[in-house]
Amino acid sequence: MYKGILHTHTLVVTLFLLLYIVKTILLVTGKEATLKKVTDSTKWFERIISVLFLGTGIYLYLNSGNITWMVHVKILLVFASIPMAIIGFKKKKPALAILSVLFLIASYGLAEMNKKQILKVDAPKIEPTQSQAEVGKQLYVAYCQVCHGENGDAGLSGAKNLITSTLTPTEKLDLIRLGKGNMPAFAASLPDDQILAIIDYTNTFKAK
Ligand code: HEC
Repeated sequence: MYKGILHTHTLVVTLFLLLYIVKTILLVTGKEATLKKVTDSTKWFERIISVLFLGTGIYLYLNSGNITWMVHVKILLVFASIPMAIIGFKKKKPALAILSVLFLIASYGLAEMNKKQILKVDAPKIEPTQSQAEVGKQLYVAYCQVCHGENGDAGLSGAKNLITSTLTPTEKLDLIRLGKGNMPAFAASLPDDQILAIIDYTNTFKAK
């Protein structure tokens, strides 16, 4: 579900951006008649994608495990770009229309940057006296809990339920090292023995 909504959101945002880039070019180059034609003929299309844009955005916001300040700046940029575009096209102010498109492109970039934030958490300090079980738990809380939740079954950002997972430990090790879909790759941040300690810890999760 999350994956499908995310793909829809990306598609809709791309269409929205393309339409606004075309309209802005027409405004900047003074092709007013063509701009009016494009605006009139895409009115319904624009309404539908606006609703989808907002609806999928709200769903993703509510179901994401990875909300950082970047996401909030991104949302601010999007909401600031809307009145700019409306005024820009209504009052025929090309600079405002361009700024609004730039805001949208910047928010697109922020969303991409946000994905990498998860790997930048401060690495927890591990003492040599800690048991493997303690290390596994500590690392799980630091790196995995945001999406998988305290008990492994939160499913945020489209995360799979770890309690009902049927993967073997080797398959899990590979998946965690390389990442999959919305799950980041951890090979560069965690050595294999630490990933194995996390897997052991996740095997202690039980359905409530
Ligand atoms: C940004 C959110 C996110 C974080 C952080 C994250 N995961 Fe995931 N995880 C996912 C998603 C999404 C999937 C489903 C991938 C797919 O199949 O498309 C997944 C799948 C898995 C699976 C496979 C389950 C199955 O049966 O298919 C395992 C195991 C797993 N994660 C363990 C971990 C561990 C351990 C960590 C921390 C080191 C972690 N994950 C961190 C999102 C995340």
